[in-house]
Amino acid sequence: MVVSSAPGKVYLFGEHAVVYGEPAVPCAIERRARVTVEKRDDDRLRVHAEDLSLDGFTVEYSSESEETPDVNVSESLVAAGVGYIDAAVEQARDAADAPEVGFDITVESKIPLGAGLGSSAAVVCAGIDAATRELGVELTSEEIAERAYRAELEVQDGEASRADTFCSATGGAVRVEGDDCRSIDAPDLPFVIGFDGGAGDTGQLVAGVRALREEYDFAADTVASIGDIVRSGEEALADGDLEELGRLMNFNHGLLEALGVSSRSLDNMVWAARDADALGAKLTGAGGGGCIVALDESDGTETALKFTPGCEAAFRAGLDTDGVRVEEV
Ligand code: PMV
Repeated sequence: MVVSSAPGKVYLFGEHAVVYGEPAVPCAIERRARVTVEKRDDDRLRVHAEDLSLDGFTVEYSSESEETPDVNVSESLVAAGVGYIDAAVEQARDAADAPEVGFDITVESKIPLGAGLGSSAAVVCAGIDAATRELGVELTSEEIAERAYRAELEVQDGEASRADTFCSATGGAVRVEGDDCRSIDAPDLPFVIGFDGGAGDTGQLVAGVRALREEYDFAADTVASIGDIVRSGEEALADGDLEELGRLMNFNHGLLEALGVSSRSLDNMVWAARDADALGAKLTGAGGGGCIVALDESDGTETALKFTPGCEAAFRAGLDTDGVRVEEV
């Protein structure tokens, strides 16, 4: 039996603009998915998942069973979750040249599902690591990033960015530009996350920005300005200048808001964080709903978010410098 874990992520800067070739900086956070894998004597797959949302649920699922899993979250979320596990197992079987091997798999995740925190990438990275190790093969974090990206491509019909899987596999702060992903130096980042319990429709939000950018030159300029913020942000990261990072996060949120991808609940949480003297705050990911990320070394932001209308959960999750790692063998 092998247990591996991998972190979720936030976007410190650059979501949406990254779609048009600008750089972006996702960062791994101290919230992990843990996957336990044990080889079976047959070629079947049995998946047991716990705490996949903040409310928590349990699903006993066998890919060969006809029965609907008895769970308290939507079936589509469960089907998607199991799809990611299947794809991760396929990658592990391929890496170990063991196409017929079956597994018992348990997934535990503290990363809210579908909220832009990279929960699926974390589950896929941890799953590939645990399953390959269980078969006696050790992959590098770069190899896991590549295989996890392929697994996501398969589940998401050819639409996946390398950002989430690379960040989860390597940990730390990452610079993404097109298909080029690199780890970059960063100081300790005291992230606080607020979650509104919802999720935006990434496809629709990306299409909305694309339409604005085509219609208005100033919208195209706004996207390019986000790229400038990312470049300044990289310098602030290299200098370890948290105050400057906070100012740039606030600016980045303003431009995302102008592009129409924020929401009332996200803005409420951003303003609650600013009122609580966070160094900065912005939405993270596609927007429309989901999560904000703030920078605050004190407890102020977390406490303020807990009393903010529309905020369902608030938690501290600093920059995680560890990527995918083995926990138990
Ligand atoms: O919400 P997330 O974490 O899947 O991030 C979406 C980021 C976008 O830039 C909006 C889209 C993309 O594919 O890069």
